[in-house]
Amino acid sequence: MKFCIDDANVDKIRRIYEYYPVDGVSTNPSILAKTGREPYEVLKEIRSIIGEDGELFVQATSKEAEGMVEEARRIVKELGKTTLVKIPCTPEGFKAMKQLKKEGIRFIGTAIYTAMQGFLAAKCGAEYVAPYVNRIDNMGFDGIRVSMEIHDAITENGLDSGLLAASFKNSQQVLELIKYGVKAVTVSPDVIEGLVKNAAVDAAVDQFTEDFRGLVGEGKTMADC
Ligand code: G3P
Repeated sequence: MKFCIDDANVDKIRRIYEYYPVDGVSTNPSILAKTGREPYEVLKEIRSIIGEDGELFVQATSKEAEGMVEEARRIVKELGKTTLVKIPCTPEGFKAMKQLKKEGIRFIGTAIYTAMQGFLAAKCGAEYVAPYVNRIDNMGFDGIRVSMEIHDAITENGLDSGLLAASFKNSQQVLELIKYGVKAVTVSPDVIEGLVKNAAVDAAVDQFTEDFRGLVGEGKTMADC
């Protein structure tokens, strides 16, 4: 399972990359807008942090298929072949996906609120499909359940695709889909830090350190006692 950062803040991306096992970075137009920076400038900086092996997800912003395809060509030209273009799962988006498939440009289906959107994007050749878990929950439906249905529809039909589940607001939502064996999740830095934040863990580690100091003396560790 791949684990990605859903953000464009380069300081946060650097920190998360340093501490956690991360496979890539996903962005969307709203995430890029929060940086207040020129989009290709910030995306190139992210590319330099994650390297050529890291998957970078960048969304096309046109409403019509032709514009999406044109954007996709530019995005890949600027940011490299391990960049996947996010295409919203609208009728125009599906049309664009079919063209991108022909051109060999890697893409994912995004803005997914229903299982059928996810299935259709996978059938168009999307490498990933991105259901918005928390946004679906906020509409009064079950984002985890919709995501599982998409995962099952892809698996049962033998499609070469998988989830890049997105829009998480807590660690339980992330864990539910990790346990289900989805292809990937993308999670904001704050939620990632929250996955391991636990007062009981901190207290346990502090106690170990204190006990060991009592044995070998202040400042000493297993490396120098
Ligand atoms: O990138 C799309 C998705 O991650 C949106 O998340 O937090 O805006 O619902 P959010």
